[in-house]
Amino acid sequence: MLRRSVLKLLHRSASAPARRYASTKSIREALEEVIPAKQAQLKKLKVEHSQAVLGDVKVEHVIGGMRGLKSMLWEASVLDPNEGIRFHGLTIADCQEVLPPFPGGKEIIAESMLWLLLTGKVPTEAETRSLSQELARKGELPDYIVKLIDSFPSTLHPMTQLGMGVAAMNQESAFAAAYERGMKKSEYWTYTLEDCMNLLARLPALAARIYRNVYNPGKPIPAIDHSLDLVGNYSNMLGFGNNYDLTEYLRLYIAIHGDHEGGNASAHTSHLVGSTLSDPYLSYAAGLFALAGPLHGLANQEVLRWQQNMQKEIGSEITHDNIKEFLWKTLKSGQVVPGYGHGVLRSPDPRFIALQKFCETRPELLKDPTIQLVRKTYDVAPDVLKEHGKTKNPYPNVDAASGCVLYHYGLTQFKYYTVIFGVSRALGALTQLVWARALGLPIERPKSLSMDTIEKLVKGA
Ligand SMILES: CC(C)(COP(=O)(O)OP(=O)(O)OC[C@H]1O[C@@H](n2cnc3c(N)ncnc32)[C@H](O)[C@@H]1OP(=O)(O)O)[C@@H](O)C(=O)NCCC(=O)NCCS
Repeated sequence: MLRRSVLKLLHRSASAPARRYASTKSIREALEEVIPAKQAQLKKLKVEHSQAVLGDVKVEHVIGGMRGLKSMLWEASVLDPNEGIRFHGLTIADCQEVLPPFPGGKEIIAESMLWLLLTGKVPTEAETRSLSQELARKGELPDYIVKLIDSFPSTLHPMTQLGMGVAAMNQESAFAAAYERGMKKSEYWTYTLEDCMNLLARLPALAARIYRNVYNPGKPIPAIDHSLDLVGNYSNMLGFGNNYDLTEYLRLYIAIHGDHEGGNASAHTSHLVGSTLSDPYLSYAAGLFALAGPLHGLANQEVLRWQQNMQKEIGSEITHDNIKEFLWKTLKSGQVVPGYGHGVLRSPDPRFIALQKFCETRPELLKDPTIQLVRKTYDVAPDVLKEHGKTKNPYPNVDAASGCVLYHYGLTQFKYYTVIFGVSRALGALTQLVWARALGLPIERPKSLSMDTIEKLVKGA
């Protein structure tokens, strides 16, 4: 029933004929098919509606981090404050139903999510597999990147290493080279896609090498296995290839974390830098450095640190009252409760719920004290945060749950967790770079105001 309605919805949102479900296209061919309709849609919007008003710009927007200001075009996903994220109209639950998993697996994989994000279509099994093969073929790191990463001190934060590694790959950028030679605007997206696919393909090897160097120096890293998917290879290269449950968890986590609208700091940064026609490597490196902030991607590392402090303080007697007391202690010391609150969401994050459901299917996870702590914290934290009265969203975001499962399965170095987020978020940020070039979006240049100017404008109004 759901499958039928979802497919209907996908038909409605796209111009391509139904035969796409029976064919095996490359992702480039699938994109070529959908781009003209989107270009026409944008042209129509420009011609017919460019002066239509979508909302007011208030002083609170200018001094309040532009929260809620409708000011960016982002095709792949839209975030509803109450329902959470939808990828081309599909909820996480819809995606779990229709996107092909890895053979024998249950969870969504990066390739099927990438296909959906880029093309707005559900890929066939065969298309998903062929995308996995394409990424595996392109996945080896070039020697100069290996040398660069190996030269970093192990004390350098893994996110700093990831951003530097990604930026350095821009010496191979097909887009930058074609731009230098001189290319037509209509060709921008094809070179951008080439860079994006190369970058996505290499991210697991890059991220795994950073992990090896920092936490397991000298340990051999398995070669890319061409029969595996992107995240299967990532798990393998991290040294967890024989842990089926962790690999499945990583697949789910990376797929559902892949995009969260355009306004979040990393997506927005990557989009802004990309709008200057910086190549995808530089654009996404910039996004990664935004992700490295504790209010954004670094929160998943902070959550685990905070939970462990709570565990130390509470000891073995984990009661709701003990947790409440610790929550108040955190708040009264002027700190935020990590993993709670959100810039847009106003209800529990469906990604948090999906990760909780993953735990519910595995008894060993339900017995884990840290995972129990996450669940019990969820029982009491919303009321405490409501009573505290500051945050607009007292509910958990995805980071409240993401780290504890990794920890349970032996991926215990939580300084590394944001790197996994960085591998994931590339799916959405790079998708948007391709679309920004396909649609010919201009360089971003919002208007800034000084306080004196705001006062003058307010008086004049
Ligand atoms: C995500 C986050 C940065 C969103 O920020 P925001 O859009 O400014 O959130 P709000 O509008 O609800 O913030 C209003 C106030 O509530 C506070 N607040 C928000 N979330 C809070 C939390 N989890 N714990 C305590 N206070 C919180 C803010 O610091 C702000 O306080 P201020 O007025 O003194 O500056 C914020 O909720 C946060 O810091 N959460 C913890 C970190 C985290 O989990 N980040 C991952 C996000 S996916």
